[in-house]
Amino acid sequence: MARRKIVAGNWKMNMTPSQAVALCDELKDLVKSDDVDVVYCVPAIDIVPVVEAVKGTNVEVGAENMYFEEKGAYTGEISAAMIKDAGAKYVIIGHSERRDYFKEDDALLNKKVKKAFEAGLTPILCCGETLEQREMGITLDWIRMQIKSDLVGVSAEQAASMVIAYEPIWAIGTGKTATTEQAQEVCKAVRDCVAEIYDAATAQAVRIQYGGSVNAGNAAELFAQPDIDGGLVGGASLKADFGKIVNY
Ligand code: G3H
Repeated sequence: MARRKIVAGNWKMNMTPSQAVALCDELKDLVKSDDVDVVYCVPAIDIVPVVEAVKGTNVEVGAENMYFEEKGAYTGEISAAMIKDAGAKYVIIGHSERRDYFKEDDALLNKKVKKAFEAGLTPILCCGETLEQREMGITLDWIRMQIKSDLVGVSAEQAASMVIAYEPIWAIGTGKTATTEQAQEVCKAVRDCVAEIYDAATAQAVRIQYGGSVNAGNAAELFAQPDIDGGLVGGASLKADFGKIVNY
């Protein structure tokens, strides 16, 4: 069965609650699609107003991060249950900015992935290599290590329902997109890795996005690759162009 494409915006640390609602209004008609799942992953403080703003549309909402503990003395963190109760369905886990600036390692991310599933959220698990790793020729080994570590203890059924985003770090926010060949090669390696951990059916079901300077001009070619099931879009998700990416 053909996998349904999924295009998610990662708003990062942009948009105050009132700006967020205005952006939802601006994009409302532009992101309509019967064929593609559309998700806005937004700052924690925007989840409630954005859930409200997209009610009755085809847009689903996600968080950009979460903590793995159920609740308690973890000042500044939000839990999977809070995200779920606020009406969001997805959560980005392990974005390279979290791995880099906030020192999140694979052991921690594995706990977050499992907690997200437990709460009924769909994780969008990110992986990706630095430019140095690419130049050293260790991209595929690195990605495989990330995926295998982050999915320890995750069932085949859970893995089949999740989203994995391949985001080469050197392509994020740089205007430098991976070539379609580079993006396809790694997304295929991610799928092969899922097949190795689980089985062919799970690998065929999991949706794999490409992220890194996706824009209205390159989305169609990237999303046409056999192992690329849509995109995780940063900068371009904050403007009208996002509608063109959804309707590539
Ligand atoms: O999560 C999204 C990625 O970090 C890509 O960001 O589209 O601004 O390059 P970008």
